Amino acid sequence: VIIASDQNIVAQKCADIIESQIKTLPDSVLGLATGSTPVGLYTELIKRHREHGLDFSGVRTFNLDEYVGIPENHPQSYRTFMNQNLFDQININPQNTCVPDGMGENPLDAGPLFEKKIKSVGGIDLQVLGVGTDGHIGFNEPTSSLRSKTRIKTLTHQTLEDNSRFFSEDEFQPKLAITMGIGTILESRRILMMATGESKALAVREMVEGSISAFFPATALQLHERVTVIVDEAAASELQHKGYYKFVGKLQDDLIKKHRPSDW
Ligand code: GLP
Repeated sequence: VIIASDQNIVAQKCADIIESQIKTLPDSVLGLATGSTPVGLYTELIKRHREHGLDFSGVRTFNLDEYVGIPENHPQSYRTFMNQNLFDQININPQNTCVPDGMGENPLDAGPLFEKKIKSVGGIDLQVLGVGTDGHIGFNEPTSSLRSKTRIKTLTHQTLEDNSRFFSEDEFQPKLAITMGIGTILESRRILMMATGESKALAVREMVEGSISAFFPATALQLHERVTVIVDEAAASELQHKGYYKFVGKLQDDLIKKHRPSDW
């Protein structure tokens, strides 16, 4: 758990990890997330691409989720979000970007197809995640199976309300989504969880310090061997062992300065 002073530092620290991943493995497979949390990270990656030539030409990406029932080019689709906030502004090959298909003839086929695509490139190296206020990751709502694979989920009232700010009153707001499963997420080799702002403080506490439960899907990350949770002070405010995480962070920084592991 890394506690940064504000959301800009969160974005920079996350960008450092992604930059290091891409430099170590130029054809990395990245798992990406939408929502307001990773926007600062994407802005930072665009900046590093423009100013320092961070090269995305070999990178492949898989997005966590997509709404069912709105076309790719809809202003609120997650495909549009990714194109606008990242893909159109870096040198990634658009054919190397994959977002679940929410408009397929049979939406029930989209999940298994997506899983197949992930497998065909050897799995996800680094998965970026945010957390919903109800503990969802991707769109794995409370009570999602901890071993679930990519499939259709019905959004909770809480999520619909949280995300209603993006849809005008008379606009159709999807109630279904296709999402990577919790099992799919746990199969990625490394996970980078970001959370910022006071509204995420309780979710962060539950995720890091709560008991593992399908009722709070983000707690499943406790089962993964390599998760980095990067939060700002506001999102960290309810953590019971906040002082300890800071202490660990300091000692690890000293260790890294001394030994510099190549994959940090
Ligand atoms: C959506 C996405 C999640 C995201 C969550 C939090 O529901 N499906 O992947 O983590 O929102 O969004 P925000 O970052 O805007 O709080």
